[in-house]
Amino acid sequence: MVAAFADGTAIGLAFGYALPANARWWQGLTTPVDKGFTDENGCRTFALNELMVVPEWQGKGVAHALHDDLLGGRPEERATLLVREDNDAAQNAYTRWGWRKIGKLQPYPDAPNFDAMILPLRVES
Ligand SMILES: CC(C)(COP(=O)(O)OP(=O)(O)OC[C@H]1O[C@@H](n2cnc3c(N)ncnc32)[C@H](O)[C@@H]1OP(=O)(O)O)[C@@H](O)C(=O)NCCC(=O)NCCS
Repeated sequence: MVAAFADGTAIGLAFGYALPANARWWQGLTTPVDKGFTDENGCRTFALNELMVVPEWQGKGVAHALHDDLLGGRPEERATLLVREDNDAAQNAYTRWGWRKIGKLQPYPDAPNFDAMILPLRVES
């Protein structure tokens, strides 16, 4: 987890985890992906679970800094996140930061539909 502070008060945070083998993460996919795309081995994909900034501090680059801080040191080859289709602020930011949509995902049966996104974390040699 990484957090941002102003005058000793938390104003934003970001956290996630490496998907384990047979991760539940991908089970809610409702659109097709290439064979092998969802294969996990514990060190392939970092899931960005949450990125949030308090309203008074939004639009000032805090989320971008938290995002780069959390993902910059990760050893996995890619990151994934789920974003609500109607979350315009987050959709715009993620697209600007290099994420691409790979499909639709409903994490559990009565959950809303999310866009599943992917960001390459390092160039394969
Ligand atoms: C989505 C969210 C995290 C973005 O946080 P933020 O701190 O406002 O985002 P940032 O300021 O880092 O930048 C996002 C984009 O906003 C714009 N932006 C940045 N600074 C700006 C400014 N001073 N004025 C206007 N727009 C600005 C840019 O498009 C920026 O992209 P860039 O980094 O490529 O320049 C925030 O809106 C939030 O917490 N929302 C509620 C929780 C949420 O929905 N989280 C996402 C769940 S998937």
